[in-house]
Amino acid sequence: MKTAVIILPTYNESRNIKELLNRIIVVSKKIEDWIIKILVVDSSSPDGTAEIVKEMGKYNKSLHIISTEKSGLGQAYIDGFSYCMENLNPYVMFEMDADLSHNPDDIPAFLNKIQDGADFVVGSRYIKGGSIPKNWGIDRKIFSILGNLVIRFGFMKLSITEWTNGYRAIKTWLVKEHIDTLRGYTGYVFQVAFLDNAIKSGAVVKEIPVNFIDRVEGSSKIDSFEYIYQTLKYVFFHSTFIKFAIVGGVGFIIDFGISFLLIEIITTAVWLSTIISAETAIVSNFILNNKWSFKHKKISRKSGRKSFIWSFLKFNIIASGSIIIQTTAMTVTTNIFGLTYWYIYKVLIITLVIIPYSYFFYNKLVWKENG
Ligand code: GDD
Ligand code: MN
Repeated sequence: MKTAVIILPTYNESRNIKELLNRIIVVSKKIEDWIIKILVVDSSSPDGTAEIVKEMGKYNKSLHIISTEKSGLGQAYIDGFSYCMENLNPYVMFEMDADLSHNPDDIPAFLNKIQDGADFVVGSRYIKGGSIPKNWGIDRKIFSILGNLVIRFGFMKLSITEWTNGYRAIKTWLVKEHIDTLRGYTGYVFQVAFLDNAIKSGAVVKEIPVNFIDRVEGSSKIDSFEYIYQTLKYVFFHSTFIKFAIVGGVGFIIDFGISFLLIEIITTAVWLSTIISAETAIVSNFILNNKWSFKHKKISRKSGRKSFIWSFLKFNIIASGSIIIQTTAMTVTTNIFGLTYWYIYKVLIITLVIIPYSYFFYNKLVWKENG
């Protein structure tokens, strides 16, 4: 039988931990195909959380505890994962809050998804059947919903609805693969960073609905400003989509610059200038995307030069497609609405049509998943 370890980070959860552990133990007795262990990672809580756990541990062999320094939620998980892998032989590790916000009754549903082949199961509050607390103030609701939307669109990974909730089941190989990278994210942003890294390494990610229950006892340790800042920074520097858009912007400048040089200064024929400038931009976009935006899916990795050239050809076809679409759309819009606001149409066409179109096809045909 395989082992699943439920990791519970705690800081001042003395009024929640006992009930939570009891409920997890009740649930785990009903689970037949897994060995369930529990690991509490307590950051030296002054309220006596650890003592309660140690007392309960005397009567329960599958309950473990480590004590760490208080240095953030992410750090607590990193310490927990390391201890777990060295001592508890896990096949799957759970992240779970210890303030009763996460319902232990969901544990079997996570394990079922793992058994169905998922590597990383996310407990989502934003799919059908999941929810955020009804009694949350409107500000907290907006904060949570908007936060997740910003991350979803920032990464252009719309299939995942939940990036922040810390109720998850993760296969050990993924933890092993990413733990060193994650050491850089000791706070709550750890959650976003881990999921992003897992996706980039080709993990099968599945969601199950969870109802997030507002904590009754104790208080949240989150520092909202720090959290928002760290998260936005993370998304900005790690989003394939944002990098892709920046590369597109650089390509535009190159295209425009060369056109200007050839047409205005060297007085080359417009058709020749356009071919040279457009193709230069395409080549530079291809190289920058391959080396930067889509770095984690490098096409040359597997089958060498042949696949590289083939990918470059496909890139050219998609890029030419975007030129044709843009030209057509510009002709149509300016014919209908007149020429006065042509630059507005151009911006709209590029942002609403060209960027999504090319991003979609580059992902589908050039920098494929696991490619
Ligand atoms: N060991 C340890 N060390 N535990 C910590 C620390 C720490 O520095 N900081 C927080 N925890 C524990 C808390 O005791 C609790 O069990 C759990 O981590 C979640 O912390 P809360 O303070 O209750 O945070 P929250 O409810 O605001 O956070 C939830 O939402 C976040 C953002 O959506 C959690 O689901 C987080 O995982 C999530 O990132
Ligand atoms: Mn909480």
